[in-house]
Amino acid sequence: MIDIKTINEIISQHGFPLYLYEEDVISKQAAILKEALPGFDIYYSIKTNPYKDICRFMSQQGFGADAASANEVIKAHEAGFASKNILYSSPGKTAEDIINTLDKGVIVADSYNELAMINEICAKQGKRAAVGLRINPAFYINMDSPPQVLAGIPSKFGVDEESLLLNKSFIDNLKAIEITGIHVYLRSQLLDDKVLYNYFKRVFELAEFCITQMNWDLSFIDFGGGFGIPYTKNDQTINWMTLQPQIQALIDSQRVVSKNKVRLIVESGRFLVGAAGIFLTKIVDVKESRGQKFVVVHGGLNGFLRPALMNAFNQIAPGKIDKPLEPLFTAMNAFEPSIPANAGKALELVSVVGNLCTSMDLLAKDVYLPNPRIGDIVCINNAGAYSFTLSPYDFASHPRPREIYINKKGEAV
Ligand SMILES: Cc1ncc(COP(=O)(O)O)c(C=O)c1O
Repeated sequence: MIDIKTINEIISQHGFPLYLYEEDVISKQAAILKEALPGFDIYYSIKTNPYKDICRFMSQQGFGADAASANEVIKAHEAGFASKNILYSSPGKTAEDIINTLDKGVIVADSYNELAMINEICAKQGKRAAVGLRINPAFYINMDSPPQVLAGIPSKFGVDEESLLLNKSFIDNLKAIEITGIHVYLRSQLLDDKVLYNYFKRVFELAEFCITQMNWDLSFIDFGGGFGIPYTKNDQTINWMTLQPQIQALIDSQRVVSKNKVRLIVESGRFLVGAAGIFLTKIVDVKESRGQKFVVVHGGLNGFLRPALMNAFNQIAPGKIDKPLEPLFTAMNAFEPSIPANAGKALELVSVVGNLCTSMDLLAKDVYLPNPRIGDIVCINNAGAYSFTLSPYDFASHPRPREIYINKKGEAV
């Protein structure tokens, strides 16, 4: 982790609040994923953190880009990803989105209407496009303990697996497009290797169905991913030691892999960048009210929304929100404030609040911090994924948090 001297220098140079992203951490996570899944192409989910240096790092790793909007397709290009390594998958694309991205990546259609729309646009332009199709599979991962695979559920994402055969002739008649890939994504923040293995197995079965029953000549299978990270002390890390050989054996047993030159793709966001981000801000006031101590910082809810949402959910139903509501809520205590410069000093029970005119502007409730005083720098961990991008930083016209990237040499760029 980055040292206090560097943190002080960065804050005095760039002000506060700000997000720091550490390449060193991202690089270690990338190495773990590459080693764990050698048979797969890894696609970085840009929506997790679209910061330019992070995207550039991912393209330099040889990763592809998982883009969730037409603008993310453009960002992926700017970061150096080649068109053939960009997948554009999201519900609700417009004709404009499709026209603007047709030559810039592979579009994954999210509905039969979208397939028809892409076909019409291609026909008008005298083109034939290879496209993917997102499928809502006939299974679902339920994370209630013990985690289990259940029958599929209604979803706004993709087309239902059961509807594929019924729509086969409709799809076959779309002469300006060809379905060459499938995309599945069910859950985020998966930590259980058994759940992940079953998920991969099911997606392979679905791909086999698409090849044999739908007669699609698949060139890619996008498994999604959902690889999680430990946010709280109770979270385990994914047991790659167990999972890696199991997945490899699964790949080796697949006809689809041996027969066709099919690319196996996984998408990952938070696993790569979640722990690489730190949110930094300064204490601007310390006050007491009726026996409680408040530490006031700049950039509370507006600077880093997720800790404030976590506390808001807990206010609505104290102790009862145990299901993740990704990416807004992962778990209680997922984000911990600290004052590294005061480590070892006497702990005080405080709440860390922002400077907005709402009591929802609460970053941490009743936590112990070492001797918090005006001017101290507060750090919050796990700020690399769904953090800057999800925060309403323009609220109340406060200054936006800066974003600083620390490269492998420890330089802020
Ligand atoms: C389709 C899709 N791909 C990838 C991701 C990235 O998920 P994560 O950051 O958990 O890896 C998401 C997250 O919601 C998603 O919906």
